[in-house]
Amino acid sequence: MSNNTTGAGDDADRGGESSTDWAEAIGDGGLVVVSNRQPYSHTYDGDDIAVEVHAGGLTAGLDPVMQAVGGTWIAWGDGDADREVVDENDCVAAPPEDPGYTLRRIWLSDEEVDDYYYGFSNQVLWPICHSALTRVNEWQSYWERYRTVNERFVEAVEDHAEAGDIVWFQDYHFALAPAIARERVDDETLLMQFWHIPWPAWDTFRGCPHGEAILEGLLGNDLLAFHVARYRENFLACVEAAVDDAVVDHETGTVSYDGRTTQVTEFPMGVQADEIAERAASEEAAAFWDEFRAEYDLADTVAVGVDRLDYSKGIPERLRALEQFWERNPEWRGELTYVENGSESRSQIRAYQDIQARIEEGVERVNDRFGTDDWTPVVSFRDYISKEALAGLYRNSDLALISPIRDGMNLVAQEYVAAQVDDDGVLVLSDQAGAGSLLDAAVMVKPQDTCAFTDAIEEALTMPEAERRARMRHLRRQVTENDLAAWTALNLKAAMALRDASGSGATLSMEGQP
Ligand code: G6P
Repeated sequence: MSNNTTGAGDDADRGGESSTDWAEAIGDGGLVVVSNRQPYSHTYDGDDIAVEVHAGGLTAGLDPVMQAVGGTWIAWGDGDADREVVDENDCVAAPPEDPGYTLRRIWLSDEEVDDYYYGFSNQVLWPICHSALTRVNEWQSYWERYRTVNERFVEAVEDHAEAGDIVWFQDYHFALAPAIARERVDDETLLMQFWHIPWPAWDTFRGCPHGEAILEGLLGNDLLAFHVARYRENFLACVEAAVDDAVVDHETGTVSYDGRTTQVTEFPMGVQADEIAERAASEEAAAFWDEFRAEYDLADTVAVGVDRLDYSKGIPERLRALEQFWERNPEWRGELTYVENGSESRSQIRAYQDIQARIEEGVERVNDRFGTDDWTPVVSFRDYISKEALAGLYRNSDLALISPIRDGMNLVAQEYVAAQVDDDGVLVLSDQAGAGSLLDAAVMVKPQDTCAFTDAIEEALTMPEAERRARMRHLRRQVTENDLAAWTALNLKAAMALRDASGSGATLSMEGQP
């Protein structure tokens, strides 16, 4: 997979995994992925039906895996034309233009979407896992429908999974499904889950409504993986504190409970580094940038932020640091533009409406305060841009400001690094993102420490060229070595090892782990 057109692949030993490795890792058994979001949705465009690609990190990351391995991907069919294109089993071939696997759609009623998705998933588990206890809202119906929707997804798993297959649940929408599935699928079917968001400390998690049931549900997995070691440790501590009869072995990362063993581990998710570098160097990326720069009359130096508009992303905090930066450094007025590409998210939830309004107010405040006829300090746009355009935006931005207050990994930070084919950008990164554990040559910030954040922007903008390049080269190596293929191989090979060892009582060898 690694090609050396950008030079980034030179040292990529872990990044040298290929799709053949993934397919081999699966062996004879099949793969069934379960996620809330689907990778492709069908929507009406007048009388025609259009295909939309979901650009979120989880779906964008798993689609190439499924294309390489094949199998079935079970997800919520949320497109208004989704039902038009499925067969009698609610399945459609994906990707639509070049089928490589089966997409099985689950239909959710409005009440199910309200209670399971907007409710328990995004107003209980999301805030709890991001340590935002004050944002938790719980209603009985949230919990009840979370359970019944988990059951409905498991019913679909029963339709598709055969003995020896690997069922791979994704994320916090399915905390109950593994234990339900364990009762219903063949013993030889391996159940695993990747938790894409943080896992909080026990002192936070103990505030989680139905927390014990959540933990027990997850212990239905044979393998449970988080992005970084501290989330794994937090999870094990929560199990130890809350689940009677569970025996936790911190050294091997195993939990014995209810006659079974769950291996708990950490595999940091990566991005398709080589593909992003290629896109960044493409003509389309360059054309986008020329047009974009002219349209918005950008200053000579550009900082970028790309975010889902979520309260966990630290966007108002970033705007405050920028405001203080321009206040302290008047010579940078007219010389630096901050470009914010935000995508609207979960807007039915009050907290998300509020954060969008706060971000808009912040942008207006900074622009009113410092903007001139020739210069807009903050250019904020919501448009979807192509992957090539995005890579062009990253490549040509002198710095990236990635400042989540809490974030499982943050793949945008890695994408920015992967696109630095000229080795000359600076990554300013929150130490509250999982990516902070991986990308040790970034300029680290605490997003809510406005003074220190402002200092970090100053440091990034004035960093000597040699240091800037050395840091970026190091970061690119890290992102390439820990790319998406490496992450996939870690997950699937660990699953295979457990499947092969099942019955022997063996646990996963932690050797060679990041
Ligand atoms: C995070 C979650 C994903 C989710 C994505 C987009 O990255 O870990 O599971 O798909 O956000 O959020 P949405 O609610 O639009 O699916």
